[in-house]
Amino acid sequence: MGDTAKLELDGTAYELPVVVGTEGEHAVDISKLRAQSGYITLDDGYGNTGSCESAITFIDGDAGILRYRGYPIEQLAEKSTFVEAAQLLIWGELPTPAQRDHFSALLAENSAIPSDMLRHFGAFPAHAHPMAIMSGMINALQGHDLPGIHIESDGEFELAAASLLSKVRTIAAAAYKAHKSEPIVWPRYDLGFAENFLHMMFTQPYREHVPSAEAARALNMMLVLHADHEQNCSTSTVRMVASSQANLYASAAAGVCALWGPLHGGANAAVIEMLEEIRASGASVTEYVARVKSKEAGAPKLMGFGHRVYRNFDPRAKIIKKAADDLLDRMHVTDPLLDLARELEAAALADDYFVSRKLYPNVDFYSGIILRALGIPLDMFTVMFAIGRLPGWIANWKEMYDNPAQRIYRPRQIYVGSGQRDWVPSEER
Ligand code: CMC
Repeated sequence: MGDTAKLELDGTAYELPVVVGTEGEHAVDISKLRAQSGYITLDDGYGNTGSCESAITFIDGDAGILRYRGYPIEQLAEKSTFVEAAQLLIWGELPTPAQRDHFSALLAENSAIPSDMLRHFGAFPAHAHPMAIMSGMINALQGHDLPGIHIESDGEFELAAASLLSKVRTIAAAAYKAHKSEPIVWPRYDLGFAENFLHMMFTQPYREHVPSAEAARALNMMLVLHADHEQNCSTSTVRMVASSQANLYASAAAGVCALWGPLHGGANAAVIEMLEEIRASGASVTEYVARVKSKEAGAPKLMGFGHRVYRNFDPRAKIIKKAADDLLDRMHVTDPLLDLARELEAAALADDYFVSRKLYPNVDFYSGIILRALGIPLDMFTVMFAIGRLPGWIANWKEMYDNPAQRIYRPRQIYVGSGQRDWVPSEER
């Protein structure tokens, strides 16, 4: 706790505590303001609201910094496996070799979907979106994994976290197979997290798919980069649901739904759709950028650009852009959409509309290029984001679960609807 801030309302002065974070971020604690003054604060879209104190992830949006538990994203993307990053986020420290092996074994043992659940896949229509299947299946999984609805011990939490992380990957691949009317492929105990996913996605009854080291490395890095991002829309949703003491699975399923939208995780697919649309229409990049800038009704946004917190390069975008270049080179793949993306980025970064609004490429601008190179179909892109973001959701859920002083989330509002009026009988309406 630092200094206090002074606020004067209707001639009365109020002293409000100032909270200072580890990295020197300042906040005015207004939690008692309504009780003292009758006033609430109004912040549509929570653009300037700290909803919690958290020790998991730090972002400095002006400087383009992202750290998980203090470790810079650049180091984690280069050196960490996704499973280590998940352990770091959830339990706070990089795992020792023994802890890593123990957790990897738990992931392997809990990778297969219970056979009872397999029949659910057939109940979804063939065109069901994999994000819908994923959120439904996560809720179904709860009943299989836990004897009761609630987690009762640290051991039960560890098992639930491992099962969720491991099975969500299996569910994702199975949803894809079901959609293609192909047999569901069982996970293999001897493969790492990313390899196992690629194996389950692309193995056919008549041909085992052995993922290349490049593909597995690129997917691992993508998952690490997506693993957490402090109080984004889906993580805030997970925390909102968790604050009512809903279980881990219900909270994570809600996170999947929040991630689905094109302004959040759905942007990775929307970027590719945008690039394909530009290519198919024959419009030049300059013409497309002019449409975006016009802001006329129906004008598109430049998908994969802009961010609520980053007013500078998204550090994940820098890493992904380089990785996309390297991966396509190593796999000897050319993708005309990558050239178009580069052209679009250059045009936007040289344009005053984007410069003055501090709009830079975000994580989603180049991630689709990598997913395409890995053979992941477009409607699975946001599912990939969900697999990646799960450690962050679990870590945030645990942070709340471990806090005995945790209160239910319940924002206030300013009501702007009709004043009191009397019931009108239907024949008079
Ligand atoms: N294209 C065109 N104009 C934009 C864009 C964009 N992508 N993003 C923001 N703007 C404009 C916005 O219209 C506003 O203009 P004005 O000042 O004239 O009203 C100005 O820039 C400031 O934007 P903002 O309203 O402060 O943006 P926000 O913080 O409410 O929204 C965002 C952030 C990410 C939803 C938004 O930038 C956006 O829609 N981007 C495209 C979708 C996207 O790429 N989303 C992925 C985000 S990163 C990964 C993730 O969270 O999943």
